[in-house]
Formats: sequence, C-alpha cells, structure tokens
Amino acid sequence: MHRTIQELCSQYTTLTRSDIDIIIEKSKSLQLTADLTQANLFIDCPANDGKHAIVVAEAKPANVPSLYSKSVVGKYAYASFEPAVAFTHKTGKPMKRMRAITQEAKYVKQSVVPIKNGHGETIGSLIMEEDVSEQVHHENKVKALSETNEQLSQTLIGLTEQDSIISNMIQESLLLLDSKGRILYYNSCAGCLIKELDGKTDILGTFIHDRLPFITGIYEKSESILQQEVNVGKKVLEVKQIILVNQRQITGILVVIRDLTELREKERQLMVKSAVIQEIHHRVKNNLQTVSSLLRLQMKRGGGPESIQQSLNRISSIAAVHEELLESSKIDEVEIKQLIERIGQMSIQSRMCADAEVSIEFHGEEMYLKSDVAVSLALTINELIQNCLKHAFKYRNHGNILIHFSDAQDHFEVSVEDNGIGYSSSNQSSLGLDIVNTIVCHDLAGTFTIEKTKSGTKAVITFPLKEVEAV
Ligand SMILES: Nc1ncnc2c1ncn2[C@@H]1O[C@H](COP(=O)(O)OP(=O)(O)OP(=O)(O)O)[C@@H](O)[C@H]1O
Ligand SMILES: [Mg+2]
Repeated sequence: MHRTIQELCSQYTTLTRSDIDIIIEKSKSLQLTADLTQANLFIDCPANDGKHAIVVAEAKPANVPSLYSKSVVGKYAYASFEPAVAFTHKTGKPMKRMRAITQEAKYVKQSVVPIKNGHGETIGSLIMEEDVSEQVHHENKVKALSETNEQLSQTLIGLTEQDSIISNMIQESLLLLDSKGRILYYNSCAGCLIKELDGKTDILGTFIHDRLPFITGIYEKSESILQQEVNVGKKVLEVKQIILVNQRQITGILVVIRDLTELREKERQLMVKSAVIQEIHHRVKNNLQTVSSLLRLQMKRGGGPESIQQSLNRISSIAAVHEELLESSKIDEVEIKQLIERIGQMSIQSRMCADAEVSIEFHGEEMYLKSDVAVSLALTINELIQNCLKHAFKYRNHGNILIHFSDAQDHFEVSVEDNGIGYSSSNQSSLGLDIVNTIVCHDLAGTFTIEKTKSGTKAVITFPLKEVEAV
C-alpha cells in the first residue's frame, strides 16, 4: 500500500503540519537528485519513540540497479544500524560517509544532511546511500564461509571452541537460528539467560519460541532487521533480530539480546533522585518564605534582644527538622519523637532569664511525619514551650513541662502542659499564639486550644493526618 508522507508523519512522528509541508516540499526534488547522483536517496524523520527514525520518502536512480528489492517507506531506521541518521537527528549536524546496514541487511555508506524548519529544529534528514559492496569485496571471502546456515553456525561454534574467551567477553546473548527458528548456536551469555528463564539446560536444536516465548512476536514479523525492547518478568531486554539472506533465500536468523534491566533501574533511580531534589528545593523555598514572614511579623512588633532570641528560636525549630531529616533513613519523613525532644532541649538551653529550674518530660511513641508537617509542628511546639518558660514560672523556683503526643484514629495530638501560674489571655499584642493559631488552622487543618487547669496551663493541638498535604 502506498502511503503518503502526510499519513506516515502523522502516524509515526510528532511533526507539526507546517513541518510536514517542508518535508513534502523537499521530497518533490528527490527523484531528480537520485537520477543526477545515481544514488539511492531517502528522507527520514525522527520517530515519536524518541529513539529511531522512520523512512517517509525514497527515490531510486533510474537505469542503475538498486540496492533495494522492496520499498522501505514506512519502515524504521534503527539508531544502531543507521548511526549517521541518529546522529544528525540528535545534533542537527550533517554526517558524511558513515557505514550503515540497510533494512535489507546490506552494507552501505550514508551521507546525511539535516532538514530544518524555520525555528532551526531538525525535522528530518536527507540521506544519500552509496553501495560499498566493492569495498567489502574481500569480506565476501569470509562471507562465503557462511553461505549456508550450517556453515555459519559451524564457523561460530568453531570460533567459540577455539577461544572461549571471545564468547565470554560478549556481554550480549547471541543466538543463531535456522530459518524455522531452531537454535543452532548460542554463546555462554545466551545459555545463562535461557537457563535462568526456563531452568532447562538442553538448548541446541530446540525451537526459540519454546525457549524464549517473548521473542516469538518479534520473530514472526518478517522484517529483515528489527529491534525491540521487551519486559520479561522483572527483566528488561533489548532484542535485535537480523534475518540472514543469501541469494534471496533466508538462511538463518541472528538474535542478539541485551539485558537492560540494570540500566533501566539506574535510570529509574536517577528520575526518583531528581524528583526528590526538586522537592527539596521546593521545601527549602517554602521554609525560607516562612522564616522571612516570621521575621517581618517580629519586626513590626519591635523589641530588643529578647525578640531577636524569639526569632532565633523559630529559625532553630525549622533547622531542627532539617537536622532530623539528615539523620533520617527516609527521604522526606521526620521522626517526631526525636524532633520534639530536640526542640524542647534547645529551648531550655537557649532561654535568656533562667529564674526557675525547669524540667521537661516527653511522652509518646516513635512516629514519622512528612517534613512540611514536621516544620509546622516544630514551629508551634516551640512557641508553646517558649510561653511556658517565659510566663508560667514567674516568681517560682521550680517548674515542670510535660509534652505528650500520640496518633489515634488518623489524628495527631500533641499537648504541652505546665504546672505554672495558669494561662489568662492578656490584652497586650502578642505574636506567639497567633503564629500557633495560623499554622494549626491553615497549614495543618486542625484545632488549637489553650486553657488554665487546676495545676497550670494546658495547650492542645490536634490535626488530621490524611488531610495534611504538602504546601
Ligand atoms: N504557659 C503559659 N502560662 C501562663 N500564661 C501564658 C502561657 N502561655 C501564654 N500565656 C499568656 O498568653 C499571652 C499570649 O502569648 P503569646 O505567646 O501570644 O505572646 P507572648 O509570649 O507574650 O509574646 P511572643 O510574641 O514573644 O510569643 C502571654 O502574654 C501570656 O500572658
Ligand atoms: Mg509567646
């Protein structure tokens, strides 16, 4: 079926309508150029798989025997067989006389020039192919050895018998099949792969579709050259298949399998890492914004060294989350018990006027929360502890602070209790409890209460664990 450039580009590429028009325009002079240069000419466009190219137009020179028996329009030009095309599509630079293997498994030399659109983007390439069969004439002597499947397999087997180092050095699995798919030769890597997949050792003479069923789909396609990635269990394998043809007869099939599992896993890990780095930048930006708005609020209130110390405590609470993150084995989760203890100890140590001797107790189980939730929690707990130290134990010698935290029924609850003079709302403008209220209501979607108790003051923060989302 004759397919137009328009149809091919729409199906196999991501080219725009105007890019396709440029390709169509170029293709009009293709036949004339082929006749003039007496060479096979093609136009390839980058395929939408991001790796290979697709042949969208071709022209054979008139009066000169062509290298090709069939049309290759609509076929893939695989990057590993036509490296010059891949290079030009990737870099936008021309490439001269580079060896390639055609869709009919013949050696040619390709000169490739990019076709660009008005924005300077490479939308395709013009390829001129030269027959290098003359140059590879001496190679034909070697080829003669492999005229039949048997001889070729004997050659390969002979090679491995003489020098097994060569076959062991090949990282890919190499299999030679006869035209019916029977395994005539396999290298040690292929042997290991088959054993790993089906557990059986007898390989020679068995059918490829029995041993490696995932290849069947590829093998049944009658393409001379094919390259495909397949997932087999947890493995990712790249399968290349080359149909060996001699005097228009299929004499055998060469299958090369490369294990890409490790490579793909590394690519996946790299993607996860870059996503984590993005996330960290996002969190750092958020935390710096929090710090600057806290400083701005404090600035409006004015005050001397004490207010600077308050700001320092707030910044140190955020820093405590990062210190916990550094020690944590998890990427973005913080252990809350340690975090609260760290903030408590930090507050006691940094207090400016130490009239009373204050002890602090922590009750709660180990648990992990996302770092943004941990930052909100750190800031609020800091404020509550600061208040105990600043207001609760005025004119007293001793004081005790009790911090209790738990998660029950998808809710996290933390209470800060003291045995001091007891809370009473003052008329003075204050910042601390405002900060607590804002963070609890807006960032944590929770509730905050503070009240005078029989023995002192009790402040409680409760918030749902599921609803809390990254800001
Ligand atoms: N644990 C407590 N014991 C007794 N009184 C408290 C306690 N916590 C808060 N208060 C009272 O509530 C008031 C408001 O507290 P808030 O933290 O908002 O402001 P502040 O501590 O006075 O100033 P800052 O902005 O530096 O925090 C305090 O001034 C204090 O009178
Ligand atoms: Mg306060």
